Amino acid sequence: MEVIILPSIEECANLGACMVSELVTSKPNTVLGLATGSTPIPVYAELVRLHNESGLSFSKIKSFNLDEYIGLSPDHSCSYRYFMKEHFFDLIDIEQDFTYVPNGMVDDISEECSKYESAIKKCGGIDLQILGIGSDGHIGFNEPGSSLSSRTRIKTLASETIRDNARFFDDEDEVPRHCITMGVGTILDAKSVLLLAFGESKADIVAKSIEGPITSMIPASVLQMHQNVTVLLDDKAASKLSRRDYYRDVYSNKPDSY
Ligand code: GLP
Repeated sequence: MEVIILPSIEECANLGACMVSELVTSKPNTVLGLATGSTPIPVYAELVRLHNESGLSFSKIKSFNLDEYIGLSPDHSCSYRYFMKEHFFDLIDIEQDFTYVPNGMVDDISEECSKYESAIKKCGGIDLQILGIGSDGHIGFNEPGSSLSSRTRIKTLASETIRDNARFFDDEDEVPRHCITMGVGTILDAKSVLLLAFGESKADIVAKSIEGPITSMIPASVLQMHQNVTVLLDDKAASKLSRRDYYRDVYSNKPDSY
């Protein structure tokens, strides 16, 4: 796990976007795993800027989003499909047919979940999965207690997540109670992972996820088992890491060829 700590969100977003852009440039048919929430927004904004100003093309990529609320149609302003269109898909040259987001409106949820898993496999797997982290340690919508080998399935949101996500809705009662989410095992299958966390409110859970024991009670902690994870943190999100000086030292002395 490489932990990179930078002073500001802007610098993290620029580096995150740079990593995505290098991958997409070297492998134009990259399969990207995408996340919603407020954290990745500046990364998407920087990628859109690179598309507009430097000609970065997404025309051959495919994307799979982590999750979607059950019961929200794609044109509901709080659905994750809507979020992705607003912040990314409609602003770049991606083929809309190759942007996969679970459909939370289907009758047969379990069929939708197995179709999602098959579609990821058919595309050759996810090359880079972008992740945020919930304040309870969830990744995607894998709440504490999720099986560490789980696959795409229905989950019930924890009350902490409902409270956290209520800010996007008019009222807490409007937050759906259920979602479809890639499983922890699905996420671990990605060839590489970029976890982003910004701000003081994430400092506690970031420290537990990176430096604490691996436990299903903190799903993000399982990323310690993955061979290719980069964690991008601003100073505030890194403030409770006991080895933050070491991580800074490693990054500032990183050999060019490594
Ligand atoms: C939601 C999403 C997660 C995201 C989390 C954190 O619950 N399902 O994928 O990581 O929110 O959101 P934020 O980045 O707004 O803190």
